[in-house]
Amino acid sequence: MPTHAIEGPPNVRNTIPIHRGRRQRLSVEEIIRDIQQTADLPLERSGTLPAEAYTSDAFFDWEAENILRKDWLCVAHVSQIPRAGDFFKLDLLGEPILVVHGKDGVIRTLSRICPHRAMDIMPPGFGAEGAGPAEAKDADCGNTRILMCPYHAWTFELDGELKGAPEMHKAEGFCRSGTALMNFRTEVWNGFVFVNFDGGAEPLAEHFADMTARTAPWGDLADMELLVERTWDCDFNWKVLFENFSECYHHIGAHAKTLQPLMPAKECWTEQENPAFIQEHLPLKESVVAQLREAIAGGVEFPLIDTLDADHAAEWALFCAPPCFMLFPGPNQVAWYRIEPLTTDKSRLTTSLLVPKSYRDLPQYEACRATAEKALVDFHSEDMDICVAVQRGFYGSGFQRGRMSHLEMPIWLIHRYLAARTRGTRPTLDRPAAASQNGRIGAVPAC
Ligand code: FES
Ligand SMILES: [Fe+2]
Repeated sequence: MPTHAIEGPPNVRNTIPIHRGRRQRLSVEEIIRDIQQTADLPLERSGTLPAEAYTSDAFFDWEAENILRKDWLCVAHVSQIPRAGDFFKLDLLGEPILVVHGKDGVIRTLSRICPHRAMDIMPPGFGAEGAGPAEAKDADCGNTRILMCPYHAWTFELDGELKGAPEMHKAEGFCRSGTALMNFRTEVWNGFVFVNFDGGAEPLAEHFADMTARTAPWGDLADMELLVERTWDCDFNWKVLFENFSECYHHIGAHAKTLQPLMPAKECWTEQENPAFIQEHLPLKESVVAQLREAIAGGVEFPLIDTLDADHAAEWALFCAPPCFMLFPGPNQVAWYRIEPLTTDKSRLTTSLLVPKSYRDLPQYEACRATAEKALVDFHSEDMDICVAVQRGFYGSGFQRGRMSHLEMPIWLIHRYLAARTRGTRPTLDRPAAASQNGRIGAVPAC
């Protein structure tokens, strides 16, 4: 295995590890060492990660075991499964799972793998045209009193415990109690349901304690409901997705006609580093705030969230909690992104908008919903094209390590998160916390 040379890019000497071209394959150990070295550089001298961090199957497998399965992954909002028996299914990191609201009010994440002969208890097509024991709204969600495997008709309670197993009375020592669908550790933060496959993550109330305080101005997020939900199949690595949505620098290019006129990139800034999340501020232009107030008065925009003060009502905030959770609370709605890493170069993104339940009674509800959905789809389409092209770039021999703008501080913080996780810790716990940009971004020396 060739050793990975640490060289400097043209304008920084011996600071950023560099790798050109896909042919110089890095091992998992080399990728990890490179991420650690890159993330330890100050933002002003830091740069992008090696291409292999986004293209190596071995590294994706390492991330899945050592980062993704060990962290909290968001899977739902409570408004999606409000009643006992409500469920929906999804596949995450190779795990077929079922998020279900139990008869005891507890929300659980159950494996769909039957403990009899490994059948998926809700295979593709389940729930369609009356198949399965649930009055399903579609193949992926519905409401049921009981779960039943379609292979040999074993039945399970909503907490996963085996209820019935036909013709098993001659199986010596077989006991219904103690046989159950796997129950993965699940907790709810502010209305968002998270699963931790590894089972060893810090309790969410502690993990997100600071984020609970920072999101308090938007009121009770658990009391909101889904206004719009869109799922996007993405031909790129999950970090391309997370990095793209975390930084506002690309408003200048990718969103020149959509977001840049509303939230100019150079006014956006990032708060002090936190162990669990990255917080940014995206101030709206004064003229945009005035237009929004006019639109609200005219009934073509939802009203402001009534708990917000004037400062919070004049910006969008962004909370990125790696690896997969993003929240964009705005003046009159909250955008929520859920990222599902699938393979090295495939991910799924679900983008949703949440609004207070009281908005449902507004006469302008449908018109405002349509406006919000169009805006969401328009600027996400811009992002999707960009991210596909970036992933393609990682495979070319012309790939080079790039330098970053101060406006890309969130990317640097993501790299620091990855580096910390490779050391088995979290940002700020074994390094000093990076300082806030605090709305006063100074001149950055450049050559
Ligand atoms: S595999 Fe599920 S009942 Fe047999
Ligand atoms: Fe974007």
